Formats: sequence, structure tokens, C-alpha cells
Amino acid sequence: MGLAVPPELERYAREHTDPLHPLLEELERYTRERVALPQMLSGRTVGRLLHLLCLLSGARRVLEVGTYTGYASLCMALALPEDGRLVTVEKNEEFARVARTFFKRAPWGKKIELKLADARELLPKLGSGSFDFIFVDADKRSYPFYYEEGLRLLKKGGLMVFDNALWGGEVLNPKDERAAAVAEVNERARSDERTEALLLTVRDGLLVVKKVLE
Ligand SMILES: C[S@@+](CC[C@H](N)C(=O)[O-])C[C@H]1O[C@@H](n2cnc3c(N)ncnc32)[C@H](O)[C@@H]1O
Repeated sequence: MGLAVPPELERYAREHTDPLHPLLEELERYTRERVALPQMLSGRTVGRLLHLLCLLSGARRVLEVGTYTGYASLCMALALPEDGRLVTVEKNEEFARVARTFFKRAPWGKKIELKLADARELLPKLGSGSFDFIFVDADKRSYPFYYEEGLRLLKKGGLMVFDNALWGGEVLNPKDERAAAVAEVNERARSDERTEALLLTVRDGLLVVKKVLE
């Protein structure tokens, strides 16, 4: 995970962002101390932004691709109405186990359904137009696949957000398959007549895509 701004500014941004809930602070600490690859956790600024986007867009049905320990799932689910639902997909059993433990403890955790599966196999089985909001945060090589599947799964007017859209700056001069896949989605989103794109320099970059045409 790279940072679009210097680390001290990233820290400043975090310190000037209110925590959403004490359980999320605990999950972040737990992940840092007890789980492999803690740098994968999205964190407070991205989590708050996703929360706000779900809230302001009035999302009721949310899909997340790549749960890890469930930080962003909990942030987004907290923004949903009582009858709202969030489906999150994770292929790693150990990460899914930690996420489920925290979902059980969250008073709003009942809104979350975790599917232990490979998203590349699961997404094609889900119905078209069944989500208002999608957060993609899994294997970068599959970003072009998630982009097309995501557009199919989104309702018209819905939003899709891709994490790591700047990929540590490598999108400027992609040298491997992952950087090329991330850059390809950034290009597609801006030239696709079905979408409107906004690339934010938050943390490692967030590409926000609005579906404007079927
Ligand atoms: C960057 S982490 C997700 C971080 C999480 N969204 C958060 O807010 O903390 C990426 C996760 O995607 C999972 N993943 C990667 N490829 C996947 C796939 N094809 N299907 C399902 N999960 C996948 C990884 O195991 C990892 O837990």
C-alpha cells in the first residue's frame, strides 16, 4: 500500500478525522497486533469516507469485494438503514474468521453477510442491478473483471469505489500486471460512456465511479 501524500500529512488527516465507533478502533488494534498483513486494513479516513458516501447516496444494498478483517464492512454497514444489507466476499478463512467475530460483536453486525468464496467465482452468480454501492478492494489483477461485473451488479445511479487506484504511484508507469490492471480500470472509467469517474488522492487513491447509463 502506497500513500499519495507524505506520511506525516496522512497521519495529520487521520488525527483530524473522528473515529466512527470504539469497536472499529479495537479492530484496527487487534489486526495490527494479531493478524498477518495489517497494512491491508483500509483505516479511518477511507472507512469514514465510505461511510459518508453510503449515507449520502442513501445506499440500502452494498457489496464489498475483499473483506480482510472487516473494517470497511463495519464502516459501510453502520451507514445503512435497519433493513439495509451488506454482502462482503473473502476467500481467506483466517481473515473471515476474525471479521465474523467482530461482526457478531457489533450492534449493527446483523446487516452484514460474509461469503467465504473467491469473488471471481461468486460475482457472476449474483443478480444484475442488485446493489446501490460496491467497494472493490481485492486482488488487483482482477480489477478489470471487477469493473465489468460491478457495472452489471450496480443499479443505475449507483456508486462503485476502487481502493489503491494510484497503486503507490505505479499507475504512472505500470511495470507489472497489477499496476497495469489498476491503470486500465482508471482509463476505462474515464472513457466509458456508462460512467462518470472521480479519482481521489486519499491514502493510496480511491476511484469513485458512478453508473449513469445501463
Ligand atoms: C486489501 S484487503 C481488504 C481490506 C478491507 N476491505 C478493509 O477495509 O480492511 C484485500 C482482501 O481481499 C482478499 N481477496 C483477494 N483476492 C480475492 C478473491 N479473488 N476473492 C475474495 N477475496 C479476495 C484478500 O484475502 C484480502 O483479505
